[in-house]
Amino acid sequence: MSVSEPATGRRRREGPTPPQSEAPYLEALRAFAERRPVRLHVPGHKGGPAADPEMAEVLGERALALDIPALTPGIDQGPEPTPFQQAQLMAAEAWGARRSWFLVNGASQGNHVALLTLAHSGAELVVQRNVHSSTIDALIVSGMRPTFVASEIDPELGVAHCVTPEALDRALAETPRAAGAAIVSPTYFGAVADVQGLAEVAHARGVPLVVDEAWGSHFPFHLELPTPALSLGADLVVSSTHKVVGSVTQSAIVHLGEGGLIDEEVVDRCVTLLESTSPSSLLSGSLDAARRLAATRGFELLTRTMAGLRDIRAAVRELPGLDVLDERLVGAPGVHAYDPLRVVIDVRGTGATGYELARRIREHDDILLELAGENVIVAVFGMAEDVVASGARLVTALREELASRVHPGDRSREAFAPPPPWGELVMSPREAFLAPQEVLPAADAVGRVAAESLAAYPPGIPNVLPGERLTAETLDYVRRAIELGGSLRGASDRELRTIRAVVER
Ligand SMILES: Cc1ncc(COP(=O)(O)O)c(C=O)c1O
Repeated sequence: MSVSEPATGRRRREGPTPPQSEAPYLEALRAFAERRPVRLHVPGHKGGPAADPEMAEVLGERALALDIPALTPGIDQGPEPTPFQQAQLMAAEAWGARRSWFLVNGASQGNHVALLTLAHSGAELVVQRNVHSSTIDALIVSGMRPTFVASEIDPELGVAHCVTPEALDRALAETPRAAGAAIVSPTYFGAVADVQGLAEVAHARGVPLVVDEAWGSHFPFHLELPTPALSLGADLVVSSTHKVVGSVTQSAIVHLGEGGLIDEEVVDRCVTLLESTSPSSLLSGSLDAARRLAATRGFELLTRTMAGLRDIRAAVRELPGLDVLDERLVGAPGVHAYDPLRVVIDVRGTGATGYELARRIREHDDILLELAGENVIVAVFGMAEDVVASGARLVTALREELASRVHPGDRSREAFAPPPPWGELVMSPREAFLAPQEVLPAADAVGRVAAESLAAYPPGIPNVLPGERLTAETLDYVRRAIELGGSLRGASDRELRTIRAVVER
């Protein structure tokens, strides 16, 4: 089938793709650099010679030579499929998508693309309450009006798990004009949703399911990992490939499923609209390479990584006061499967908070974690990482901290209380974001419409989102969480002395 020239030059092509052992885009970049063409175009560093010398030394002359602009013949222009098109076709094949788009503004861009795409079919959306902030921003970008669906909360750990199909079904029933549903799986803590059940519920009501699988880009490459969302009926999947699979930071992919509920051309337009006209060839090259690594060696690498992580979990469990979350979590409300590529350590038995322990191992051992909370710390491991070395350092550091420096009493003894219900949505997040606003003392804000988000951690579920009416109960809850040593995300004033509210006329 011949296809016309698309705006992004990335159209899916029928026919065979090169074997997954090849990386056509990366190889084309390399051939370009080795040819040493006369570069009378951007970027102004000219592939290295015109760069700041220290920049060339630090980033590497090789990297600068591969930094080329869009619309370069033989790379993303010329006979089709171009190497750029081939790279995306091969990514679609590797991840099991109908079509995939490389993104250069992270999975954040993927979430913006997803909601802007859904906004073509309606103005309402059912969305998991504790989505990543980029999905809340996507509500602002797309103008969609959300009906929020709560995820399950683990009352002991004070962390949020996933949305259940029953909860999604109820929210969709309340929102008959919803153009789709958007959920997150896996969570920061490795909990994986019942994506098949969620997709069935959405499809039964005739709408597509968007899955933010930012943390699960490695799932297709090992049978012992949770089943990837695309194989379970998800219609659009956002994958933060840089996170675990290991492309360069800020690179990501959005994948279209086979369901036919989302128009491929609309996704294509949304990707283009939300993207620089100068997407980084280094980021795209890293996606092509990371796809090859995952597709050809992912099974072997993940087998080794998972075995190493089993040993690390066992070693952490031996330490006094520590426990590790794992497959035992499966079956808890909102947890259908578990991603073993992270080590989530329950620190409640140590006398210290997760914040405190994370600070100590950072200051004393130069170990930086992905996340620290009141009750847990989270270490994330890469698909191809030597986890034996990094895990051993983590275990040694924790052992030393627990033996010498952590004292009972470091930790707040207050039990976690579930947050109060969120306030009425008076206007869409976009309307609130664009409305006239003022900053006022939080004490005077009851009854006003919020122009910003407030999310007290734990468990980090937004208590307030732009467009919602502020209640005394919610403001008291957030204030109390801060007093108890929790943190506040999203707010312009992290101490909640002031708050940004809409000026209602
Ligand atoms: C669930 C989720 N979605 C999306 C994102 C955004 O990803 P990126 O940083 O690649 O833009 C994150 C980032 O941490 C995330 O945790």
